[in-house]
Amino acid sequence: MLDLIVIGGGPAGYLAAERAARAGLSVLLYEARALGGVCLNEGCVPSKALLQSAKIYESALHAAPFGVEVAGVALNHAQAVRRRGKVVERLVGGVAAQLKAAGVEVVMESATVVGRVSGGFKVRSESGEREASRLLIATGSSPVIPPIPGLEGALASGFAITSREALTLAKVPERLVVVGGGAIGLEMAAYYNTAGSDVTVVELLPSIAGAADREVAELLRREYERRGVKFLLGARVARFGEGSVCAALEDGEVELPADKVLLSVGRRANAAGFGLESIGAEVGRAGVVSDEYGRTSVEGVYVAGDANGRHMLAHTAYREAEAAVNAMLGRRDPVRYHANPSVIYAKPEVACVGHTEESAREAGIPYEAQRLPASYSGRFVAETEGENGLCKILVHKTHRNVIGAHLICPYASEIIWGAAALIETELRVRDARELIVPHPTLSELIRETLWKFGD
Ligand code: NAI
Repeated sequence: MLDLIVIGGGPAGYLAAERAARAGLSVLLYEARALGGVCLNEGCVPSKALLQSAKIYESALHAAPFGVEVAGVALNHAQAVRRRGKVVERLVGGVAAQLKAAGVEVVMESATVVGRVSGGFKVRSESGEREASRLLIATGSSPVIPPIPGLEGALASGFAITSREALTLAKVPERLVVVGGGAIGLEMAAYYNTAGSDVTVVELLPSIAGAADREVAELLRREYERRGVKFLLGARVARFGEGSVCAALEDGEVELPADKVLLSVGRRANAAGFGLESIGAEVGRAGVVSDEYGRTSVEGVYVAGDANGRHMLAHTAYREAEAAVNAMLGRRDPVRYHANPSVIYAKPEVACVGHTEESAREAGIPYEAQRLPASYSGRFVAETEGENGLCKILVHKTHRNVIGAHLICPYASEIIWGAAALIETELRVRDARELIVPHPTLSELIRETLWKFGD
């Protein structure tokens, strides 16, 4: 009997398998499609590869004010997609090599939990049955497909697509309608807007970017609009027609002609269809129910990553995987979710951690907020032309520690972990601003904003 069977080879599964194997456990990992999961194959990484092509193109396009003259600049979408493929191939190969080096047995088949056996669990795949004393469920998530009339046919014909197809489209659609103004919708809207599509984002809520700070979300929307992206807010897609979608607003319906429609209205945990019921593991509305150690309702069965339906972020999945492996090894290591950063790799990047003003108010936390435009940073001024940005920090009104940080500016994704560290370590403002920050950087925005608070 093995020590651990991991089902799913995405960020949660591959990291857990490697850590557990390096800690001395015998580990088998099942992956039905491709190592690296959605993140490496059709999510985080390939989208960054495409966005980098867009970034380079835009830089060349707007190079003149910087004293750089580029003639005949064009975005070769087919080459951008080809490069995306190479990036994925290289990183997936890296994961396979890492697992091999750690001594993980990898079976590239779809696995089903069949039931309990003495001292463990039995799992079946095409090539046979295996047993382990522990299971880690790391089955990830899938796009939500809402019951909109005409959508099923539109997906079958390729008129409607999900992020998977959006990352490999052979041709740039002339008119792209994006349904859902969350992380996926905004990242893909950024790429296709730069690549030349006429992009309209249809969002159900009155603002975009989900749980992001309202002020930041508003600034982001204005930046997108400045680039020509159109938004229909407070709008629900009522039906898919032939070459168009119909969006229902409060005061009537709008028909939106399109060549492609990207559906990005959220993802749902993959918690059914692979036999969890055979061992009685509890599955809730969001996903497989677990505590902050990754323990499910069944002793010896753990879950990490999107399958638990909590945060649905690859970096959260890594952390949950570590915590679950530590729980297996008897080490106390709960995941703390209050300093978990989130990023939208938009143009400009948005990165947030901790409370927003809205969530602090809702939780009844007394707070003070301070903000600084990105133009306070010398590096921002030196490196950008005509762009806007913002840093906003929330401090607990009485305890004086940082409880939230929100950035919309270049490099925001690279800076935000510093703010997360401030929240995690509960440094008070007067201590946090003693930290020395390199100059000139965008990170200085955090330090400068902290200086706007009293002690
Ligand atoms: P999301 O939950 O971020 O956004 C979905 C948006 O669709 C919401 O704003 C919602 O109000 C809207 N919506 C729902 N139903 C609608 C309808 N019928 N018509 C119009 N709008 C509707 O989901 P998204 O963008 O699909 O991303 C899925 C998951 O992947 C999320 O958990 C996200 O955090 C994660 N992700 C993270 C990224 C990152 O960290 N950079 C990048 C891409 C995805």
